[in-house]
Amino acid sequence: MTPEDAARRAAELREQLHHHAHRYYVLDDPEIPDAEYDRLFRELQALEDAHPALRTPDSPTQRVLGRVLEGLAPVRHAVPMLSIQTETDTTAEGARAFDARVRRELELPDDAPPVAYAAELKFDGLAVNLRYEHGVLVQAATRGDGETGEDVTQNIRTIGQIPLRLRGAAPPLLEVRGEVYMRRDAFERLNARQRERGEKTYVNPRNTAAGAVRQLDPAVTASRPLSFYAYGLGDAQGLPAFARHSELVGWLQGLGLPVNERRRVCSGADELVAFHRAVEAERDALPFDIDGVVYKVDRLDGQRQLGFKSREPRWAVAHKFPAQEQATRLNGIDIQVGRTGKLTPVAKLEPVFVGGTTVSNATLHNRFELRRKGVRVGDTVIVRRAGDVIPEVVGRMPGAPGGRPAYVPNFVMPRECPVCGSPVRREKGSLEHRCTGGLFCAAQRKQALLHFAGRRAMDIEGLGDKLVDQLVDGGLVRTLPELYTLGLAKLSALERMADKSAANLVAALERSKHTTLARFLYALGIRHVGESTAKDLARHFGTLDALMDAPREQLLEVNDVGPIVADSVRQFFAQPHHREIVERLRAVGITWPEASAAEQGPKLLAGLTLVLTGTLPTLGRDQAQALIEAAGGKVSGSVSKKTHYVVAGAEAGSKLAKAQELGVPVIDEAGLRALLEPAGG
Ligand code: IVH
Repeated sequence: MTPEDAARRAAELREQLHHHAHRYYVLDDPEIPDAEYDRLFRELQALEDAHPALRTPDSPTQRVLGRVLEGLAPVRHAVPMLSIQTETDTTAEGARAFDARVRRELELPDDAPPVAYAAELKFDGLAVNLRYEHGVLVQAATRGDGETGEDVTQNIRTIGQIPLRLRGAAPPLLEVRGEVYMRRDAFERLNARQRERGEKTYVNPRNTAAGAVRQLDPAVTASRPLSFYAYGLGDAQGLPAFARHSELVGWLQGLGLPVNERRRVCSGADELVAFHRAVEAERDALPFDIDGVVYKVDRLDGQRQLGFKSREPRWAVAHKFPAQEQATRLNGIDIQVGRTGKLTPVAKLEPVFVGGTTVSNATLHNRFELRRKGVRVGDTVIVRRAGDVIPEVVGRMPGAPGGRPAYVPNFVMPRECPVCGSPVRREKGSLEHRCTGGLFCAAQRKQALLHFAGRRAMDIEGLGDKLVDQLVDGGLVRTLPELYTLGLAKLSALERMADKSAANLVAALERSKHTTLARFLYALGIRHVGESTAKDLARHFGTLDALMDAPREQLLEVNDVGPIVADSVRQFFAQPHHREIVERLRAVGITWPEASAAEQGPKLLAGLTLVLTGTLPTLGRDQAQALIEAAGGKVSGSVSKKTHYVVAGAEAGSKLAKAQELGVPVIDEAGLRALLEPAGG
């Protein structure tokens, strides 16, 4: 690269980085994923390293980014809020390099014992400083540029997790630092609501949390469910003498501040590597996003000795994980047809490594969202994959700062179902397009079969999507009852089907014939009848015949059943071919214990609420729940004064304590079995 080329490229990168930093820090509305920003940043850094003359004072590499917004009052931090060095090598080497650096800078000889580190999660949210005077929250501020942040006290006060007053003996002055974030389930619910209303969806939990904290109207903040974890200190007076960071975190917890349990003290590089690896494996199962882990030298005297390098502590590092958002090309859009006929546009992507796996498909939800996001086939888009949520296209990446002329979509929803050719309709007031083919549509049939076989429905082990594709595409199964006529011969003849798997499936089908009415109802896939509604219906009516013939008024008497569900149940059983399917399923031998009308009344646990906790000696959780429900009882997830019994097994935890506190009777498995025995029998 000639010096002229390098200068041109550096100027271009500076301009782009300034633009994206403004979008990110000031507007809370980034256009590109962090990983993309980091790439540009690193490219500029490399250019500046190679040609130091290009390192202008206004280069984004030369200062801490961010600016105070108009509207929120500036707050000067008593102790600057520093950032932390990032280790972008996501392999074990990242941890080893940090440990080696610390040992070198502490001038430890090679044979000195391992250094102790406090290892924590790196929460992906917005850093805040909470100032408590004599235990009372008096001010909350964002990080801003590290020297000056914004006063967000009113907003922070709306976050239930943040104590307005500390518990116990609080010091005269305590500034707590931590991260405000949004849980993934809260984020998904918020977006589901936005989608239902046809409004713009949020890009990711981090930006949503940051936007909510920096609202001018605290009522808006209050409507966004936010959470908080404390991980450090700012200014403070009159603290107890701590020797270690890990002690400090425990002390903060004692004051009533939320701290994360997934933290530990690691001894040396090997344990850091193990922590990084273990947390990465758990990442998808966590209820919130993290973008890595943080290691801090645990001993505070060690921290003091290491000190700071420009604006970053030498005693801490953020060890990243692979990014959960990436840019890639949208190659095309396919249509997927769901169990209820709903048409979902699915993005066909240039395969990209995101959130730990290679993604080539992502949901686009519906046509309207595509339009709102301004996405066209051929665009570079941003894909997010976090947790067990299916990958999603969250927006389009602009080619260059500025945007483009009016959006003209180059995709339309088909008028005919791409699978069965039936007309596609959009119901009044709904954003969803549906295939009208019902069970004539192979796609709907496949989904119906998968749902029927599901673990919480008929629980037919081994009937997965590949097999269902083969069965439906090969014309072997057209309706649910035909599943039970398959037999060994037909199954073994299928491609890639070993004799043993065929025999297992036949056995699983046989086992599934003994079920419960609730499972059977749920398995039928009646619209709006989920698992819990199916249980309510089964409990109320006791027999399938009573339910199938129930008039609307009777359905409305059922717990939690409103007009939409009642009408849906009526409509389902009003269709002769649904009745026929039910009769044929009974004919192949599917049975469940039916309560006769006479038995309906004296159910042993009718009206009782039980809570299960710990591990019972012989009964699994689902089994115990099924027994209780079959006897007319209800199983609840939490203990309250309304709980009648807590059934406790080994390692029962807080629920047992709660029961004892409230004086709720506690029984063991034998006690439960005794309750289930009819008197005298
Ligand atoms: S300690 C001086 N611990 O990551 C060290 N930071 O740049 C201060 N973060 O601004 C940071 N989880 O917003 C620390 N367990 C954790 C963290 C954490 C998330 C954020 C914080 C900080 C950024 C690092």
